[in-house]
Amino acid sequence: MLLIKTREHLIERLATLEKNECLGLVPTMGALHIGHAALVNRAVEENNAVVVSIFVNPTQFNNSDDLDKYPLTLKADLEVLEKISKDIIVFTPSIEEMYHDEIKSTNYDFGGLEHVMEGAFRTGHFDGVGTIVESLLTLVKPDKAYFGEKDFQQLQIIKKLTEIRNIPVTIIGCPIVREANGLAYSSRNERLSKNIRNEASFIYKTLKSAKNLFGTESAMIVKDWVTNQFEQHPELKLEYVEITQANTLKPVVKKQKNKKYRAFIAVYAEGVRLIDNIALN
Ligand code: PAJ
Repeated sequence: MLLIKTREHLIERLATLEKNECLGLVPTMGALHIGHAALVNRAVEENNAVVVSIFVNPTQFNNSDDLDKYPLTLKADLEVLEKISKDIIVFTPSIEEMYHDEIKSTNYDFGGLEHVMEGAFRTGHFDGVGTIVESLLTLVKPDKAYFGEKDFQQLQIIKKLTEIRNIPVTIIGCPIVREANGLAYSSRNERLSKNIRNEASFIYKTLKSAKNLFGTESAMIVKDWVTNQFEQHPELKLEYVEITQANTLKPVVKKQKNKKYRAFIAVYAEGVRLIDNIALN
């Protein structure tokens, strides 16, 4: 396992790769869990060399408390990666290394993808994500970069980013990995009490029922039904539920057979914000 902390050292290492070698990048903020490991495993299978970045990006946190509480578990993260492959290049830059003197994000126009759902509730979040991902993609120059459908809106925005900035990379979306009870793996799950972590399986159960209901009912009826389910739950507070076209994230006006739809949800449990989503057809 090669641990690299500076851009300069990373560039030097990547320059030793052969021209025909396929390079994969998996950007993360650390606190690695089984969901991250699935992305890294896939990258290792599909490439000759893999860079995993671990960087808690300050500009994408709209809530300073959330940033302060973000777990830093580098030693455990390296053990997770070491088990997957000893050849992984782990890039753990400092804030100064990524932002130089000014910790500031670029303002992007992602064609409206950034204004809904996470973008509406987390001001500036996607400018922060765009800034760091653009910086990593231009530094590493991977052939393929891997992102989870857990953050489906982020995945669409990153595809858009590579389009508007003409970055030659294939963005690969990987399915959501879930705990045994259905709760999507997230580093934030660690902040939940055992009881509420179990209760939070209600999120995925409700999404699955919403999918069934969407087979016969309109998006509006399904959204109302989901809202009602959460109103009756004493511990989980719904922030939003949306049903959109999968790739454009535009609201469903009238269901059409040839279009793909997705439901998205954000919920607070014990003050911890959890997000999830599901393909509806
Ligand atoms: P982070 O939350 O660490 O997630 C890193 C990657 O792992 C993201 O692409 C995310 O969608 C994916 N992921 C997380 N949980 C998952 C799960 N349960 N199943 C499948 N994939 C999962 O997302 C970020 O970091 C940051 O915004 C980043 C892209 C690194 C930019 O700072």
